[in-house]
Amino acid sequence: MNNVPGKYYLNMKPIKNITSKLNSNRYLILIAIQCILASCKQQNNQVNQLQLKVDSFQKQLAETYKPGFGEFMSGIQVHHAKLWFAGLNQNWSLADFEVHEIQESLDDIRQFCKERPEVKTIGMINPAIDSVANAVRQKDLKLFKSSFVLLTNTCNTCHKATDHGFNVVIAPTSLPVVNQDFKPGQ
Ligand code: HEC
Repeated sequence: MNNVPGKYYLNMKPIKNITSKLNSNRYLILIAIQCILASCKQQNNQVNQLQLKVDSFQKQLAETYKPGFGEFMSGIQVHHAKLWFAGLNQNWSLADFEVHEIQESLDDIRQFCKERPEVKTIGMINPAIDSVANAVRQKDLKLFKSSFVLLTNTCNTCHKATDHGFNVVIAPTSLPVVNQDFKPGQ
């Protein structure tokens, strides 16, 4: 039976099929590897592009204008002066507004000037601010005046504590602006 030529031929066919299958599998594997490498390269490109974007955002952020400690303080100085005239005129709504403006600027200093060591001492002003806020709430002129003195003294205590004792704040002796009416509105 083994000598039948047809059988031999028939036996050859599967062998040939296996080698060609192996060859085509090898091609498939090569193609798959190439695809993986290509997608890796593409992913690397995407990562690089994202990194470039992050770098440019970081640069933009670093160059964004951010008020400094002194600028916030100059703002507080104006609100401090306006608060005085609002209180003297018993314009309690305006006084309340000015107290909040001071508080907001102090919060901004905490948020935007974190790198400044003086920020640690800022909390010392809280009791004095609370005291003024309380006088304003009670619409008590006498209490307002004494709390305002306490507030101003605390501003100076912090200046001394932070080596800025040469910045001496006082109760204003004249209006901080001439284009605002401090009397209560109708
Ligand atoms: C952390 C404690 C602290 C407290 C509380 C504080 N200050 Fe200051 N203040 C500073 C420091 C620090 C500076 C210097 C900022 C700088 O580097 O420019 C300053 C600067 C100032 C300046 C000078 C600003 C300029 O550039 O001309 C004024 C005015 C001022 N403060 C007003 C006040 C008033 C008003 C209060 C109270 C309502 C107050 N500060 C509370 C720490 C404080």
